[in-house]
Amino acid sequence: MDKPGRQLFRLKSLASMMLETHEEGHRLKKALGPLELVLFGIGVIIGAGIFATVGTAAAGDAARPGAGPALIVSFAITAVACGFAALCYAELASLVPISGSAYTYSYATFGELIAWIIGWDLMLEYCVGAIAVSISWSGYFNGFLHSVGINLPVWATVDYRTAMQGFTKAAAMIAAGTPVAALAPNLRHAFDAYNAAPHFFGIAFICNLPASIVVLLLTTLLVRGIKESSAFNIIIVVIKLLVIAFFIFVGGHYIKPGNWVPFAPNGFAGIKAGAAIVFFAYIGFDVVSTMAEETRNPKRDMPIGIIGSLVVSTILYMLVAAVFTGIIPFPALKEAMATQKAEPLAYALESIHLGWAAMIVAVGAVAAQLAVLLALLLGQSRIFFSMSRDGLLPKVFSKVHKKFRTPYVTTIAVGALVAFVAAFTNIDEMVDLTNIGTLFAFILVCFGVIILRVKEPERHRTFRVPFGPVLPLMGVASCIFLMTGLPAITWIRFVAWLFIGLIIYFTYGYTHSLLHPKNIKK
Ligand code: ALA
Repeated sequence: MDKPGRQLFRLKSLASMMLETHEEGHRLKKALGPLELVLFGIGVIIGAGIFATVGTAAAGDAARPGAGPALIVSFAITAVACGFAALCYAELASLVPISGSAYTYSYATFGELIAWIIGWDLMLEYCVGAIAVSISWSGYFNGFLHSVGINLPVWATVDYRTAMQGFTKAAAMIAAGTPVAALAPNLRHAFDAYNAAPHFFGIAFICNLPASIVVLLLTTLLVRGIKESSAFNIIIVVIKLLVIAFFIFVGGHYIKPGNWVPFAPNGFAGIKAGAAIVFFAYIGFDVVSTMAEETRNPKRDMPIGIIGSLVVSTILYMLVAAVFTGIIPFPALKEAMATQKAEPLAYALESIHLGWAAMIVAVGAVAAQLAVLLALLLGQSRIFFSMSRDGLLPKVFSKVHKKFRTPYVTTIAVGALVAFVAAFTNIDEMVDLTNIGTLFAFILVCFGVIILRVKEPERHRTFRVPFGPVLPLMGVASCIFLMTGLPAITWIRFVAWLFIGLIIYFTYGYTHSLLHPKNIKK
């Protein structure tokens, strides 16, 4: 007799997982080596986090205090939390070299229900993260176009939610006697967008068109193939590293140590809130683990890729944070972030009259975020691919293209979804939701290491997290700490998201799973 309760925790054995990856029609091309993995990691790590969310983390917003010059401490705290998780990811990826990331690991450790939850949760990291980055990319891109004299219609460069919030506020201020010309730049932008937008049945058609278009273009690239995409990524990563180095070098000459005083204007509360936001800047080292099946020697190269890319970005972030808060006084930064749709690093350079340098950084930001978007879209399609191969999602999602040997159905589905949502949503909410979902995934990965050591002690690991369960447990604690730094509304959305996932699992995945008794007997 099958026991339905136990069925929920049915495990997929590591050996059977390895076998499946060799099945005809489900096999991905093995094209990546260690350097490509580190570059891929950096490609997805350094992006909107350092170029955009860093402003809110330092200055704060209506809902939370800013870290101020102590932003460097926020970065350090988050790096430590990510470091624990990175070690755990590296151990699991060296042990389970299969496409799918934390989803795959949890299938082998916690069983199907938790694996489903984590796979569903990872959509927050990859899909919602991609939405956030595409919105941020669009902001930089529009700024760049503006600086070369090209202006897209205002209603096609802002999302509906942000525009309507701004418009409502602006309309109230105008009604109270504020002249339109005196509106803060962000309110003026929203006001103009609403007035210029085409209206259908009384509703303004406002959308973030560049965000959608860039996602669709990258989706086309991904469908064509991993090798081509990897070459494209390497070029962008090099540009991005040069631009970050440029900011540190040029900005470094203009640091006024007085700007670092007071160091933590909002005390530990500001540092903690900042840490929870800049966590977004670190997301991505784990994406390397989704590439395992496409790596020539995953057992050796996965730990190198994951840990190497995290170390490089941490060093760069801390330097950028020191320079950023050293060249712009905290009160000026707070004012700018509250009233403008400013690009923080470019704004910092403009504030010291280095417009030309700001322009270079802006172009770099556009390139940098392209690479992040590419990797997030790729990661999401690989996770869907794995879930579909396991029967938890419809089979069509694990179809591999005959000519390009890429999972084209999932790639197109993910691209279409991200492109659609990016047109209408707000970046801050997307960043918070991405962070909570990713932190939750990290927690499960840290637990996974401990459990798998007990269950499969004999299995060969090319990489082991040192000090037994201590570091994984510290990983769990530090991720929980960061999660508690996120707003209550983010928690509510997170729980609602998981609840929807459970409904889908019980109405589809549970019975279609390849591990369901009726499917095994066939
Ligand atoms: N870490 C990535 C970024 O900052 C998601 O854009």
